[in-house]
Amino acid sequence: MPSIPIGEGVLHYREAGQGSDVLVLLHAFPLHSGMWEPQLRSLAPRFRVIAPDWRGLGQSGPAPAAATMDLLAGDVVHLLRARGIQRAVFAGLSMGGYVALALYRKAPELFRGLALCDTKATPDTVEAATARETFAQNALSKGTGWVADDFAPKLLRPTSTPEVTRTVRGLIESNAPEGVAAAQRGMALRPDSVPTLRTISCPAVVIFGAEDRITPFGEAQRMAQGIPGARIETIPAAGHLPNLENQPAFDAALLRFAVALPA
Ligand code: MLT
Repeated sequence: MPSIPIGEGVLHYREAGQGSDVLVLLHAFPLHSGMWEPQLRSLAPRFRVIAPDWRGLGQSGPAPAAATMDLLAGDVVHLLRARGIQRAVFAGLSMGGYVALALYRKAPELFRGLALCDTKATPDTVEAATARETFAQNALSKGTGWVADDFAPKLLRPTSTPEVTRTVRGLIESNAPEGVAAAQRGMALRPDSVPTLRTISCPAVVIFGAEDRITPFGEAQRMAQGIPGARIETIPAAGHLPNLENQPAFDAALLRFAVALPA
């Protein structure tokens, strides 16, 4: 996997396809850029597709104590600069959506379009932030086998295929516990992005798995209502990871949005 130097370490990323139409895919927790492998293959004929690993996850590191959304958004800016990319379409799924909103605050000029997938703009409640700290400590003491046992069933539909379940567990278990803890602590610190929504002036779409049990659909509706001109695409037969559970429908929704964007 290619990488660029970042901070004290390296940022790894996957890249496929070529040309001036760039699509940047921002991954969910507690996964890494490998969750986008199906899209790196299917969308590369139409886009140059880039998917980074967050610091501490996948092969990027080392993990800071807390991987804040602001820090990770800054890493995306560095990556695009290093790859000579001035503008792109961004798709952020869950934690990737939190980073996308932080990135929009930092560098709105980078955005040709924004797809927010199975994510929300609201910050954590005190209870949610406390639960993240407990989760971080459990990840550190029990390892990523425990993380997969706890989290994979929440990410997927109960009727998900054994193949998708195996893929998701494999993605989680290949991460280091320190990176999982850093991501949880970073997400707990994220600010309220609701005020950001009305400032989004690029075209935007909200894509949601119809059976997402992590992010309530009400959050998707409120997000779409908050962004001028945004619409919602619901992906049937999919939970929190529609790109893996219903790839054809997810890809079609993302392509419908991305190919229609002005240059
Ligand atoms: C994710 O899928 O990235 C997480 O569920 C986000 C979160 O824990 O808030």
